[in-house]
Amino acid sequence: MSMTMTPGDEAGAYISGIDLNHVSPSDVESIKAALGNYGVAFFRDQSITSDNHIAFAMHFGDININRFFTPLADYPQIAQVLKEPEHDRNIGENWHTDHSYDQIPALGSILVARELPDSGGDTLFINMFAAYDALSTDLKSKLQGLTATHSSRHVFGAKAWEDEGGSDKTGRLKNSDAATQDAIHPLVIKHPFSGKPALYVNPEFTVKINELGEAEGEALLNEIYTHAQQPQFMHRFEWQAGSVAFWDNRATWHKALNDYAGQRRLMHRITVQGVALHG
Ligand code: OGA
Ligand code: MN
Repeated sequence: MSMTMTPGDEAGAYISGIDLNHVSPSDVESIKAALGNYGVAFFRDQSITSDNHIAFAMHFGDININRFFTPLADYPQIAQVLKEPEHDRNIGENWHTDHSYDQIPALGSILVARELPDSGGDTLFINMFAAYDALSTDLKSKLQGLTATHSSRHVFGAKAWEDEGGSDKTGRLKNSDAATQDAIHPLVIKHPFSGKPALYVNPEFTVKINELGEAEGEALLNEIYTHAQQPQFMHRFEWQAGSVAFWDNRATWHKALNDYAGQRRLMHRITVQGVALHG
């Protein structure tokens, strides 16, 4: 297999010369290295079966069954990330990293394209190693030792979608009563695979910085969010038939573009369990 990095500080590496239906131990090590250094591994022209999607995921850890997504009928481990032609909203439309509301957050997700719109439906990724590295020395030292609280309540809770007037989550998202997780993590973490520092707050699930007053904490979060959203840290992944993306939540943010009104998009997602995070 070979690895091609995205340009500059953008997130991710494209990995070719590998069939995800048959991965070797050294492939697994190379993919971990890609995640620990670039945050996402992208694959093209795959024909991975659901059984092998599960087998591939289990090389990286236990499967984390998401409480909120509707799974495939025959595979409870595989979540459907679905938008039907009649749906207005998609899943994952704001910048986020999955599961930061868990005290032991998921490592990442392996998303397999199953049905794509004729055009649109790309996913954007941001490289949180590069975003951290580009901070001023002063800001880096200010962030040392700070922690943030993350929560699922305002995103997956009963009121979350209805508040915006859209109630079309029916059949896609469930268990809103289970949206009661809160977790505390360092603002800057050391990546479990590479030891590289990464910013670990995100606009969707982070609710406050614990050591600062509300206004000061919010201002600092907004400063980080504006900084991270610069184009030099961002990679746009264009899905094609056979594409697979494996992102690491400890090193990236992602966002699903909602620009394919009236068309169906179906992705299969397996989430791999991670470890507790440390600064
Ligand atoms: C997700 C997600 C992005 C996409 O599955 O967690 O945010 O492009 N998906 O479907
Ligand atoms: Mn997501």
